[in-house]
Amino acid sequence: MEIIRVKDYAAMSEAASTFLIERINRLDNPKLGLATGSTPEGLYKNIIEKHKQGDVSFKNVKSFNLDEYVGLEKNDPNSYYFFMKDKLFDHVDISLDNVRVPNGVAADLQQECQDHEEAIKAAGGIDVQLLGIGANGHIGFNEPGTPFTSKTQVVNLDESTIQANSRFFNTIEEVPTQAISMGIDTIMNSKEILLLISGESKAEALAKLVSGEVTEEVPASVLNNHPNVTVIADEAAFSVVDGK
Ligand code: F6R
Repeated sequence: MEIIRVKDYAAMSEAASTFLIERINRLDNPKLGLATGSTPEGLYKNIIEKHKQGDVSFKNVKSFNLDEYVGLEKNDPNSYYFFMKDKLFDHVDISLDNVRVPNGVAADLQQECQDHEEAIKAAGGIDVQLLGIGANGHIGFNEPGTPFTSKTQVVNLDESTIQANSRFFNTIEEVPTQAISMGIDTIMNSKEILLLISGESKAEALAKLVSGEVTEEVPASVLNNHPNVTVIADEAAFSVVDGK
């Protein structure tokens, strides 16, 4: 695991966009695993800027999102499909035929999970998987205790995750309690992984990750077993590691 320490959120977003654009330009048909949430917003903004300057094209890119809330339609402003369109897809030259966000309102959610797995496999697997991390160490919506062998599945969100994500909703009751999430094994099958960590609220999670102990109680700790992981984390995220 390579750990890159940067000053702040802006520096993390800049380093992450340089990293991702290098891969998109180098690979013939890049397959990206994408994340939502606050962490990658700055990265997506930078990518849009660099796309406008002609530095990167998504013409040959296929993307697969990590997760989606169960029960939210694509056009719901809180759905992850909406987030991806709003923050990235509508501003770059990606074809919407080449993007896949799990469908949280599928009539058969189990089938939808299987379809997500199969679509990733049919594309030849994910070249670069982008990840954020939960304060509780979750990756995707794989909460503490999720088996490392898990594939894409319907998951129950932890109370702490519902609380954390309620900032995007009018009331906490509106936050869905379930999601479709790529599994830990799905994530680990990616050829390369880029994990972004910013802010003091993630400092405990970063400390657990770098302690080297691999346990299902800290889902992100599994990344210690992956051969090609880059972590870009800012000063605030290092506060616990630094003993502050
Ligand atoms: C998002 C995802 C989640 C987030 C995590 C951190 O697709 O899978 O694991 O990366 O909850 O969220 P933020 O970035 O909002 O702190």
